[in-house]
This record gives sequence, C-alpha cells and structure tokens, in this order.
Amino acid sequence: MPARPYIVGNWKMNGTRAMLSEARSIDRAAARYPGVQVALAPPFTLVHAMTEEVQAIGVGGQDCHAETKGAHTGDISAVMLADCGASFVITGHSERRRDHGESSDMVKAKAEAALAAGLGVIVCVGETLDERESGKAEAIVGGQVDASLPAPEIFADAAQGKISVAYEPVWAIGTGRVAEVADVIAMHQAIRSRLEAAYGEQGATVRILYGGSVNAENGTALLAAEGVGGALVGGASLTADSFVAIIAAAGTDQVI
Ligand code: PGA
Repeated sequence: MPARPYIVGNWKMNGTRAMLSEARSIDRAAARYPGVQVALAPPFTLVHAMTEEVQAIGVGGQDCHAETKGAHTGDISAVMLADCGASFVITGHSERRRDHGESSDMVKAKAEAALAAGLGVIVCVGETLDERESGKAEAIVGGQVDASLPAPEIFADAAQGKISVAYEPVWAIGTGRVAEVADVIAMHQAIRSRLEAAYGEQGATVRILYGGSVNAENGTALLAAEGVGGALVGGASLTADSFVAIIAAAGTDQVI
C-alpha cells in the first residue's frame, strides 16, 4: 500500500440533507487518521452543503459532463462542480456506463474536463461476470484503461496525485460478493502495466483503488494487498459506523 491510502465513499443516489450528520461524523473520525486520505461523493444536491460541514475530508461529484456549459438539460459540468466546492469527480462508474450508455471515449472526455477544471478524477473500470468467467477480464479492463484515461499530454500536465483508477468488478458491486485478493492483486498489476505503458514513469503516480462490496470485515485484507492504493466504497459509506471502520482498516496512525 502506498504511503497515503485513499478511501472514497460513493453515496450514489442516496442522501438528503438529513444525512449531512453522517458526513460530519465521518469527517471528525477521519481527522484522527491523518495518514489516510478520505473523501465522499454525495449526490450533486448535497455537494455544496457537505463542503460547508466538513474539514478533514474531500467532497466530490459522481459524474460530470464533458462540456463546460451549454444546452445539456439535467447535466452538471466539472466547472460547476469545482465552483460549488468539489475537489474531485468520479467518472465512468459502471452504473453510468450501464444506465446512461457511457462509452470509454465519453469517460475519457469527462476525465479530461475534470482535470481542466482543476478537479481530481477517479476513473472507474471493471469487467462483468460473463467477461471474468470467459477469461477476458484483463483484456476488457486493460482496454477500458487505455480508452478511458486522459490523453498523455493532459495527463502529464495534471498535478501529481490528481488521477486515480478504481478497479470495480461489476459483479462485486452491491452484491456482497467480493473479489479474491489474489485476483485483485493480479488485476491491479495489469492496470499498473497499462498505465506505465501509456504514461511512462508518471504512470506510477496513479493510485489504483479497489471497489465492490468493500466493508469492515474484508477491508483489512483488501487494503493490505499489494498494489491496492485505497477503496471506493458504496453501501458501507452511507453510515459513519461502517465507513469509519474501513478508514480505520486503512490507517495505522490513529491520533486520539
Ligand atoms: P458497493 O459499491 O461498495 O456498494 O459494492 C461500490 C461502488 O459502486 O463504488
């Protein structure tokens, strides 16, 4: 695990203002783990309010449009996210790829827009169960990495640490079925090789997170696995109790 693991909660389409109290509790707890970088991605409607409530954690969006503004009803641009206090955005989550038909080309354009707006970006990739069972997982995920990450010249200009990849096997998301640690290590190695092939030495600066049914029980083993730079957590990030346990699993330097 690199020096500062990154633990990100994705609230998906969950949360009204009443849930800001969970964010406050998570923030207070995260302050006791300075060795862990913690962030939450609430629905757009809570981004600004959450930034006003927290100090130790980052707040980000779950998606953005590739354009900065224009006739795109219902969409939110990376510039708008930055304007309301977000520090990062997730792009290419499998639920966006599935529900909104997002291709890797679109995900790449969104990631580039995020960097242009000064945001960090977490680009998601992952294979379906069919793809894993037919032995195609590494080829599929490798292809997604090549096609979804920012172009080398844009990547080279981005501040260090601004780009992360989240490996999230689709069949592990929200199912309680977590990938085997050995498979996670192998996939993270494969992703790292693609990143180094695309970006040279700078490819080594990208944190690779694991996501898919991460919880307090499996978090310790997953976060200790070679090449795992953190976790993208859905269901278990919705309450402070379950999310803080994962932060604790990532941190060895609790400050009382
Ligand atoms: P999960 O979701 O932790 O609920 O499986 C992870 C994700 O979709 O990012």
